[in-house]
Amino acid sequence: MFINFRRIHKFQCVQLLTTGLILCMVMVCWEDLDHHVVSHVKSYTYRYLINSYDFLNSSFYVKSSRKYGSNSADGASLVEYPYLINHAGKCKSRDGKSWDDVLLLLFVKSPPENIEQRQAIRDTWGNESFGWSKLGVNVKLVFALGIHPDVWKRSKVQSALLQEDRVYHDLIQQNFVDTFHNLTAKLILQFQWSHKYCPQAHFLMSADDDIFIHMPNLVKYLQQLLSSQSRATDLWVGHVHRGSPPVRRKTSKYHVPYELYPWPSYPDYTAGAGYVVSGDVAAKLYQATLFLNPSVYIDDVFMGMCAKVMGVSPQEHVYFSGEGKAPYHPCIYDHMITSHGHASDVRSLWHAATDPTAYGSSRGFFGNLYCRAVRVMLLCLPYYQNTYSCMAAFT
Ligand SMILES: *[C@@H]1O[C@H](CO)[C@@H](O)[C@H](O)[C@H]1NC(C)=O
Ligand SMILES: *[C@@H]1O[C@H](CO)[C@@H](O)[C@H](O)[C@H]1NC(C)=O
Ligand SMILES: *[C@@H]1O[C@H](CO)[C@@H](O)[C@H](O)[C@H]1NC(C)=O
Repeated sequence: MFINFRRIHKFQCVQLLTTGLILCMVMVCWEDLDHHVVSHVKSYTYRYLINSYDFLNSSFYVKSSRKYGSNSADGASLVEYPYLINHAGKCKSRDGKSWDDVLLLLFVKSPPENIEQRQAIRDTWGNESFGWSKLGVNVKLVFALGIHPDVWKRSKVQSALLQEDRVYHDLIQQNFVDTFHNLTAKLILQFQWSHKYCPQAHFLMSADDDIFIHMPNLVKYLQQLLSSQSRATDLWVGHVHRGSPPVRRKTSKYHVPYELYPWPSYPDYTAGAGYVVSGDVAAKLYQATLFLNPSVYIDDVFMGMCAKVMGVSPQEHVYFSGEGKAPYHPCIYDHMITSHGHASDVRSLWHAATDPTAYGSSRGFFGNLYCRAVRVMLLCLPYYQNTYSCMAAFT
């Protein structure tokens, strides 16, 4: 390109130099930023240009089934922690026959001490009788737990759990320590359990205990999938992370060392806060857990690896949230499926979001127009906290 140097004034020269200097300083001094940017560029390049994850099968393959915690020489560990609390008949009727009409098996990952969150879920979006009587579908709710990490508190917490389970019959507990780094064990529990005790469920959902699920919207969406035949299989839907790089900063909760995962990019996965898989995908993922080494302790990533080796890819749904909390507005309630980061407000949000009179404003041509405008305001303007992408305003 031809540049007319006489046109660059002295003032512009100084400006250019200063900008360059500042950029250099940022690059040098702010190693973290540099690192972050570089690792994202590397991972996206890998994801979009090479996109081959063949190494998963060879590097994470475990030849024979093993027992958990057996600490075999190659560090691999598998098969099944013993159940401490279980409900083998959850998906069966009183006479012991399997229900073949379970629409959704809902797994909520909950640490043992979160009694109040579990109660709030039972009273709101996890209410099985609401599913039956208001939505006309069979939704089964169970909580997935390990044992309390603190040995001193363990027996007290455990007896509280047994007490809770005697009342509600919805806890599934295996004998592993319930910690962040054992979340992969919890993921495997879900696929093992559904394979063994509820293989007939049309869909399986995994959710955190601090999310909100708009059950009527979710059920409507799943029923539409079922009636469309083909789309009720080979389904894994949620908020998709594409081409994420492993975090190498040692201070991060999500730190993964090179020894564990040397490649620049993870296979695509959905945010673990809430996603849905169809029954056939749940069965495939279960198969994958039998031969993949579960050493990658970020459960969402492990799920992505299982799916990749089984040839399943995740689909984006704009109303599944990743980390963010949905804006409180009837025009959002109309569409939302999940929202993250709820605790004390679950009950009030449930009442507001499932109140049929709340939707009055979104009906008709002008109602639609109004809601579209509200959604653009709430989701597309940068000064609001974004949960759903701007695209969600236009669906
Ligand atoms: C669950 O839903 C049923 C049916 O709508 C309702 O009668 C019941 O009160 C709900 N349970 C709780 C704990 O809110
Ligand atoms: C996971 O659970 C197992 C079995 O209880 C335990 O031996 C192991 O230390 C736990 N791992 C972590 C990282 O907490
Ligand atoms: C990985 O191995 C499994 C089981 O051996 C096989 O079904 C799958 O197709 C393999 N995936 C790839 C990407 O090679």
